Amino acid sequence: MSVEQYKAMIVSESNGHMVREVGRRRIEELPEGDLLINVKYSSLNYKDAMSATGNRGVTKRYPHTPGIDAAGVVVTSENGDFARGDEVVVTGYDLGMNTPGGFGRYIRVPADWVVKKPQGLTLRECMTYGTAGFTAGLSLYKLEAAGVTPDDGDILVTGASGGVGSMAVAILAKAGYRVCAATGKSEQHEFLKRLGAAEILSRKEVDDKSKRPLLPQRWAGVVDVVGGNILTAAIKSTKRNGSVTTCGLTQSADLNTTVYPFILRGVNLLGINSADTRMPVRRQIWQNLAGDWRPEMLAEIGTDRSLEELDSEIEEILNGRVSGRIVVDLDR
Ligand SMILES: NC(=O)c1ccc[n+]([C@@H]2O[C@H](COP(=O)([O-])OP(=O)(O)OC[C@H]3O[C@@H](n4cnc5c(N)ncnc54)[C@H](OP(=O)(O)O)[C@@H]3O)[C@@H](O)[C@H]2O)c1
Repeated sequence: MSVEQYKAMIVSESNGHMVREVGRRRIEELPEGDLLINVKYSSLNYKDAMSATGNRGVTKRYPHTPGIDAAGVVVTSENGDFARGDEVVVTGYDLGMNTPGGFGRYIRVPADWVVKKPQGLTLRECMTYGTAGFTAGLSLYKLEAAGVTPDDGDILVTGASGGVGSMAVAILAKAGYRVCAATGKSEQHEFLKRLGAAEILSRKEVDDKSKRPLLPQRWAGVVDVVGGNILTAAIKSTKRNGSVTTCGLTQSADLNTTVYPFILRGVNLLGINSADTRMPVRRQIWQNLAGDWRPEMLAEIGTDRSLEELDSEIEEILNGRVSGRIVVDLDR
């Protein structure tokens, strides 16, 4: 295949239906940008599945190539900080939303979206983390900035077997925290223990429906990915001066709580938006992910898939059935 044409997933609208195929796109169709990158690996996130199935809240214009994550090698650079051959990572910003993303061999992006691959991680490992791992890292970064330490007690991770959840369990455990993992998947208990979870809870155990404004104090910190009633219950169960991060909505976008946990216990609710994280913080988090937070079994958390094999995984992630991370290998 000539360099002008490249392989990509293409999502388009046909007779009112969204269709996905692996086809060819042309380099000149890519938007303007400082860096042309040869993508070696990408990864599958919940948001990619939304984009790949025509969710206009994520992607407004089709035909489109999803993929909010990409790791690869610079082909051409119009920015002095990057040179041909540099290994780089892009997660978030507009990549894969309305900018053609990592489910294609090439991307062209502004230089200020790009991080040089940290020492100590391979390109594949960067995509084993991907946005999910970066979001877990940002959650830990914000918990610690709010004063949470391993000595404060247990940290709850919800949606623990999914992408963000499994990464959060692994990096929190590596950073010395006692992690309680809440999952709806009984068959994933062993996986979560191998990632470092000290205790496993069922989804029901953390989904309090009593409507009481406060619950017994249990968590020093919480990494929540599911939202809704589980997030509400987690806030009500957080200890005095503890902190809760919120990044996702796989249960619900709703949050129904009184102000009592905040004004009587000083609980902090910390918002997580990985896509727009400022570059100095972004670089720091990647350094931590490559260093002190790096789980021993990082490589094992990812399952490799080709672009062609992604189709079924997209349905699986939308139905909450994926465990760990799907790494997209563009050479597979
Ligand atoms: N704000 C940000 O920067 C940011 C970044 C990345 C992701 N996100 C969001 O975070 C969420 C998780 O993303 P992900 O990539 O980790 O997705 P994922 O791999 O699909 O994981 C989500 C997990 O949530 C649990 N779950 C699914 N349906 C549920 C339900 N009805 N009630 C309660 N729990 C349910 C499942 O875990 P168990 O079976 O183990 O319970 C599932 O594996 C998504 O909403 C995503 O859009 C936000």
